[in-house]
Amino acid sequence: MAKKIISKDKYAVVTGASKGLGFEYCKELLKLGYNIIGIARDASSLESLKEQFGDKDIIAWNYDLSVFENNKIVIDKCKDFDIEIFINNAGYGVWGYFSQSDVEQEMNMIDLNIKSLHFLTKEMIKKFVKQNYGRVINVGSMAAFTPAPVFASYYASKAYVFSLGVAINTELKKTKSKARVITVCPGPLKTDFWNRSSNQKEAKYKSTIKVMKTSTYARRSLKAALKVKKKNFIITGFSNKLVKKITKWAPMGMVLNSVYNYQRKRK
Ligand SMILES: NC(=O)c1ccc[n+]([C@@H]2O[C@H](COP(=O)([O-])OP(=O)(O)OC[C@H]3O[C@@H](n4cnc5c(N)ncnc54)[C@H](OP(=O)(O)O)[C@@H]3O)[C@@H](O)[C@H]2O)c1
Repeated sequence: MAKKIISKDKYAVVTGASKGLGFEYCKELLKLGYNIIGIARDASSLESLKEQFGDKDIIAWNYDLSVFENNKIVIDKCKDFDIEIFINNAGYGVWGYFSQSDVEQEMNMIDLNIKSLHFLTKEMIKKFVKQNYGRVINVGSMAAFTPAPVFASYYASKAYVFSLGVAINTELKKTKSKARVITVCPGPLKTDFWNRSSNQKEAKYKSTIKVMKTSTYARRSLKAALKVKKKNFIITGFSNKLVKKITKWAPMGMVLNSVYNYQRKRK
């Protein structure tokens, strides 16, 4: 298939762009030819991409998206750009038994993982429907597919991301819009996610599941999310596809037991 030519004026926005998966998405988008706007509480690391992608516009915006007003500022500033892709990637988790985990952290996580993503999705989809092109890509997780004892609120937040995105995308297809909301569902990745989620600075990464390189995940999931016409969500990699099947077909009690045993031993 012929490579899509990206107009030099097109922008892609990535939240949570300073490191981890968001930073990798920025690199992939630049390689595809997009200019980028990257958002994080401290997005200064994006400067490092300017040498490699000097012909592209690389804009870093420092905003804490768990503060609702900042999302309104972001949408307002986006009006000055021709945006074709908006990736809601910023997010984190709060690990621990529900009776012991910090409620302030959980409220902040809900403000970021749910409220910010919901608002930004709505505002961008209104714009994309009007212009009849554009994709919102929401970063969900394999966590969307089961409740998780000892990581309850994070998994619940990703179930929200999944449910919202799949429903909106179905509306868009039914109403013959070319705009899309695609939900990508990563399995475990070796990023700083676990440090923040477990409240440890140098957390040791533990996973019994084979972990895909973050850059590989970014490349493969972005390619699929930009290409799909009918699919509502993307699961990348054999182990993740298998886990999805197991959570669908295995008895709920069995799934909950194994998630409990996996999560309680993590810290
Ligand atoms: N890592 C995994 O195993 C895994 C698996 C499935 C899904 N995911 C999802 O993938 C996404 C990216 O996570 P990651 O693994 O790349 O984690 P990460 O390395 O910790 O990166 C998180 C990014 O979000 C930004 N961020 C955090 N709080 C923010 C806030 N309040 N406002 C604006 N930006 C904020 C961070 O930058 P600042 O700190 O500068 O704000 C950083 O750029 C998340 O939605 C996560 O839930 C991760």
